[in-house]
Amino acid sequence: MESPINNSPEKTIAENQFLVIFGSTGDLTGRKLLPALFRLYINHLLPQHFVILGTGRKDLTNEAYHDHVKEVLNRFIPSMEEKETTLIPGFLDLIYYQHVNNKEQADFEGLKNRIYTLSKEKGISPNIIFYFSIPPFLYETVAANLIAYGLHEEKDGWRRIIVEKPFGYSYETAVELDRKLHAGFEEHQIYRIDHYLGKETVQNIMVTRFANGFFEPIWDRKFIDRIEITAAEKIGVENRGGYYETAGALRDMVQNHLLEVLAVIAMEPPVVFDSQSIRNETVKVLQALRPLSAEEVASNVIRGQYIETAAEGKILKGYREEKDVSPDSKTETFVALKVFIDNWRWSDIPFYIRTGKQLPEQVTEVVIHLKPAPHQLFKELCACQPTNMIILRIQPDAGIAIDFGMKVPGEGYKVQNVNMAFHYADLATKEIPDAYERLLLDCMFGDATLFARDDAVKASWKFVDKILNAWKEDPEIPLYFYECNAWGPVEVRQLFEDPSQDWKPPYINL
Ligand code: BG6
Repeated sequence: MESPINNSPEKTIAENQFLVIFGSTGDLTGRKLLPALFRLYINHLLPQHFVILGTGRKDLTNEAYHDHVKEVLNRFIPSMEEKETTLIPGFLDLIYYQHVNNKEQADFEGLKNRIYTLSKEKGISPNIIFYFSIPPFLYETVAANLIAYGLHEEKDGWRRIIVEKPFGYSYETAVELDRKLHAGFEEHQIYRIDHYLGKETVQNIMVTRFANGFFEPIWDRKFIDRIEITAAEKIGVENRGGYYETAGALRDMVQNHLLEVLAVIAMEPPVVFDSQSIRNETVKVLQALRPLSAEEVASNVIRGQYIETAAEGKILKGYREEKDVSPDSKTETFVALKVFIDNWRWSDIPFYIRTGKQLPEQVTEVVIHLKPAPHQLFKELCACQPTNMIILRIQPDAGIAIDFGMKVPGEGYKVQNVNMAFHYADLATKEIPDAYERLLLDCMFGDATLFARDDAVKASWKFVDKILNAWKEDPEIPLYFYECNAWGPVEVRQLFEDPSQDWKPPYINL
């Protein structure tokens, strides 16, 4: 079923509906969902009649759950203004709580009755989003319990589920999870959330490419030398060691977020701007990723792990010393890989993807390195040849910069790199919405454009599985160690034919 594109959320309001949150007292709900819903509420973007029904194992009254909501809003929106605080009671009026043990099928009957009672009381048709803000091992159980009580059927209203990553642990488990969800839900009802696609700046990549006449003509192998996609984090795994041990950087960041960004960078222009056409193009990129053989994994993928480091007068913990991490863990906290997309546009152009924790700064950016001018006129006069780059900064200080050569004033022809930069914040007349605000609103409208489709998830797992299997089967493939505050292990250089292309973001301080 085709879904509409939510182009103007300011002008339209989604139809009346319910949002049922599984895991409503959990970390993600407190940190992301409730603050996003509150911001949508204060910006008058929620449906006119709307109910948020929090569920969980705890036996809470509505009032007790309201106290919890107040507490998390104050904690996770620290910059809340006085006048926004006065809007909290109105927001709480939308919120109810229902005891549900996700593993107890009978509790879903109580949930269904509660939804229908509220539906009558409030005069809201049972259009329902079920948000799975729960550990992944419960996804299948909750889906099965909803199906058991017919809560997937769209007889008297639509039904949608939002599923958080990780969507599977490997290709096989992703296929299996999909099969279980599809036992009741159809693909148009399943919204696999990837918060990177909710970032304004990632969406802006499509606008940059397809709304302008001058980027797209050079966006291919004839003009581009290589592309780097970087997501560096300054923080370590913090209190998520238990989860991270089962994931590692490749599953945590590359399989989903960074391959989705790569797909948006490399996709063909869709013929029309609707969710199916866009996702038809992004999935083709993922399906065209050149699979890595076991030998290529050893040479084209570098993995690393941060170690205890003395810095800034303190000792930064190594990964193996983090809470819930095994002292001899081989989990990678850093990964850099060289990948190719086997199609007409990108044949033999390397894409470098890299991500890691405990790096010198937090920066996510895409750098497009253009080929040098074909005939170097100034080479004889000056050794300094300019590099040409297009830098798409996703965060922080979102923006775009173009880096090119200019003549240094004065005699001779000395060339120097300069840049023209645009700061995304200059365009915003209001606060740039958080990814969760955008994605929740899109799901309320039934716009699935920025959610991962089943074929895309499978295609990216297929690619990533080859790497995971090679690591599992060949213990000789090294795990390199790096100090905190370094740009990953020095061995990353092996990925480049010319080691001067080594990783040193950010290129420009926007
Ligand atoms: C999450 C990962 O999906 O994305 C985290 O699980 C990571 O490990 C986070 O820190 C990064 O997101 P952002 O928006 O801070 O770049």
